[in-house]
Amino acid sequence: MSIRIANPSSSDPEAEQITVLFVCLGNICRSPLAEGLFRRSVQTAGLAERFFIDSSGTSPWHVGQAPDPGSIAVAAKHGIDISMQRARNLREDDGERFHWVVCLDASNKRVVGARIEPKELFLLRDVDPLRSGTGVPDPYGGSSQAFDECFEIIERCMEPLLERVLQVKKLSV
Ligand code: 4NP
Repeated sequence: MSIRIANPSSSDPEAEQITVLFVCLGNICRSPLAEGLFRRSVQTAGLAERFFIDSSGTSPWHVGQAPDPGSIAVAAKHGIDISMQRARNLREDDGERFHWVVCLDASNKRVVGARIEPKELFLLRDVDPLRSGTGVPDPYGGSSQAFDECFEIIERCMEPLLERVLQVKKLSV
């Protein structure tokens, strides 16, 4: 059995990992859900080893903390465990480390765009099949219904997001 370790800086496109970073404000509510849901999508597609997925916040307020209990609960309700994630702040080298940087709202995108220059920077809801170009409402401090709505929006964006990434990479599921 051979083990291949993917190297994002390799010139061999076969060995290159597809790097995706989700960004919100605190990295405890929305982007941890996006990270967990996208991880599930690539796993279901049998592509887990091709991807490096992470999330971060534009603020340092919750660095080191687990996701919000509301996000952990709604993810668990759908069979996804995000409890091991820990919040981190956006790093100055995230633009080099990640090809795809996907923001959860327009304010996050503005802050990210002022701090780093990734190859691809866009809003998650640009690929929302029901409504595009707007942010995912922040459920922080909200009811379980707010977290349900947040989950629902992010979930319906996952398939189109994976398709968009794979199309550019000329891969298929
Ligand atoms: P998130 O939600 O950006 O989806 O993680 C928030 C988390 C924390 C705060 C605001 C939004 N906060 O003000 O601490």
